[in-house]
Amino acid sequence: MTVPSENSAAGRKFPESAVFYRDLERTYRTATRARGAWVEASDGARWLDACGGALTISVGHGRREVVEAATRQLAAVDYVHGAQFTTAAMEEAAARLVDSLPPAYRNAKVYLTPGGAEAVETAIKLARAHALAGGHPERHRIISQRPGYHGNTLGALAVSGRDSLRAPYLPLLADMPLVAAPWCPRCPLGLRYPECEVACASEVDRAVESAEGSAAAVLVEPVLGASAGGFAPPDDYLRSVRRTTAEAGVLLIADEVLSGCGRTGRFLASEHAGVDADIVVLGKGLTSGFLPGGAVVAKPDVVEAVAPDFRHGFTFSHHPVVAAVVREVLRVIRDEGLVARAASLEDGFRTALEPLGGEPAVEGWWVRGLLAGIALHPENAGGRSARQFAASAWERGLLVYPVGGPEGHGDLVVLAPPLTIHRDELGEIGRRLLSAFA
Ligand SMILES: Cc1ncc(COP(=O)(O)O)c(C=O)c1O
Repeated sequence: MTVPSENSAAGRKFPESAVFYRDLERTYRTATRARGAWVEASDGARWLDACGGALTISVGHGRREVVEAATRQLAAVDYVHGAQFTTAAMEEAAARLVDSLPPAYRNAKVYLTPGGAEAVETAIKLARAHALAGGHPERHRIISQRPGYHGNTLGALAVSGRDSLRAPYLPLLADMPLVAAPWCPRCPLGLRYPECEVACASEVDRAVESAEGSAAAVLVEPVLGASAGGFAPPDDYLRSVRRTTAEAGVLLIADEVLSGCGRTGRFLASEHAGVDADIVVLGKGLTSGFLPGGAVVAKPDVVEAVAPDFRHGFTFSHHPVVAAVVREVLRVIRDEGLVARAASLEDGFRTALEPLGGEPAVEGWWVRGLLAGIALHPENAGGRSARQFAASAWERGLLVYPVGGPEGHGDLVVLAPPLTIHRDELGEIGRRLLSAFA
């Protein structure tokens, strides 16, 4: 095996290239091929993709069926404006998505967007439009959690509890209530489950109350996202938030951009708690990264309330080629039983990660389906950050997703391999990770 090196002479970096890179200090390798759970660079070096890039890949890299579905659609109808036409791809993708959801979403409607953040923006505006249509112009606040992440556009960032991402843009962000997330490994309230009786859920109650009628919706990540290391909170949390929103007559929005499409062993992570939201937001695994894309699923009563005029839209909403990719990705997820596969691989994934428990640098780790998080020990990690661990893993041919801890939530490493990953590849993730930590 060619040993990959982050600082290879083959790399490209700012300012030598014309590219405005995501990281202006990093030397970038050139990816030339991606198949299954593997990514290859121009010099033949290979990485096992344990995080699907940005926790994105559901059906595996390079699936020929998806490439062909996209190509057929490009040749038939490349683009039409969603305000002028529908397409068979859009109709069938929406129907297939609704079919993948629990019965509570029967007759729900699907709004396809160019990405996850745009889907969150769409959901926020839909909640506002719903309040207006119901004769509540005072309702405009969206209550969400810290830590939490919903995207980097200004509306989505305003409801994201990630202080390091917000800080430079604070004057541009709408003032939205952020309450303590159910982040048990480092409880923001300093409590312990179950003695805490899920006190963080009462924070949502209080936030709705102190918004004095101005709350339009509560927005949650049913399984916490990258900012909390993909941690699955106690089911009582989501159930309690559902009761609060129902009693207050505000909408519940479930952001399942990361946790949806089978990642946690159910199509939606909120199914673990038996809760259905009024609006569900999807992304990432929905297109499996073949194209940028996201979706909002809204229950029929929400859509009926805002009809006929939901004043919103993007040039690239309801895009026919994105729709064709979604339709095919959902077919693969269904026909290959990938949701059940994520559930059945959970134990194997846990076994592969178990040796990490003996590493002094690791404070804690958790698994739900094919989503896992590792929290670095604040003292015992020898001053190494999650980014440095990710760099060590990179040197060992392993891609992992580091999340920095400037918000005081600690350094985290997140894993989300493709739902198609093989058992022996899960073992390989464990071995390479252990070597990086050791
Ligand atoms: C839970 C959650 N919501 C929304 C987003 C934003 O999605 P995108 O990066 O596609 O805009 C992300 C991205 O990481 C996410 O994890």
